[in-house]
Amino acid sequence: MSHDGDWIAGQIDLAYIAALSAAPHPVLLEIESAATPAGVPIVDRESGRVLMALAAGRRRIVEVGTPYGYSTLWLALGQPPGGTIATIDPDARRTALARDWWRRAGIPDERIEVVNRPALEAFAAHEPALAGPFDLAFIDALKPEYQAYLEAIVPRLSPGALVVADNVLWSGRASGARPADPDDRSGEALRRFNATVLADPRFNATILPVGDGLLLAGWRG
Ligand SMILES: C[S@@+](CC[C@H](N)C(=O)[O-])C[C@H]1O[C@@H](n2cnc3c(N)ncnc32)[C@H](O)[C@@H]1O
Repeated sequence: MSHDGDWIAGQIDLAYIAALSAAPHPVLLEIESAATPAGVPIVDRESGRVLMALAAGRRRIVEVGTPYGYSTLWLALGQPPGGTIATIDPDARRTALARDWWRRAGIPDERIEVVNRPALEAFAAHEPALAGPFDLAFIDALKPEYQAYLEAIVPRLSPGALVVADNVLWSGRASGARPADPDDRSGEALRRFNATVLADPRFNATILPVGDGLLLAGWRG
């Protein structure tokens, strides 16, 4: 069933959803407060809520792009007890801070394994933590590498797994709603990534216009 005319969810709808939602865990609020002044990019809170909902029932998760462990914590809070996450980020100084926040949120160390290497190098080196199989993969690191992350992750997916990627609408510059900068390699790569994945017969894929755009791809393998 269609909705009225060209209605697009706006600020009032987001406030309505936030008012109905449980307050974020206090440690998530701490990470939000620390990330902004430090210039550390993290997913929007709305995207965090989607990640938490998608993590339900997903016992093994792989994440590309950790810094302060904000999205990692949303995922961990949504997983079943004992669920595990392998998260990749070359910045060990930031992921050490993330570990402290996860502990303060009551997540046992053994549930989250950090791989401090560039993701493509770590996958190619067959890091044991990345062996899989994974029930959910969350991609949120270098935009020109998204397609390569996906190809590295595919052989590690369990049947029915879900792949999620952030920033795919690139603040309106992927669709052309805002003018694209011809020198923006990330924007160009994201446009190619979106077109490729949404046409890929290995997945049932779509894009949620949440935050900066969350691509969801259900693995049909
Ligand atoms: C947008 S942030 C991730 C935010 C995180 N998902 C969150 O919401 O809390 C992107 C991260 O990718 C990391 N990164 C940069 N190059 C990388 C690489 N080659 N492999 C994996 N991560 C990388 C950066 O250190 C940065 O922390």
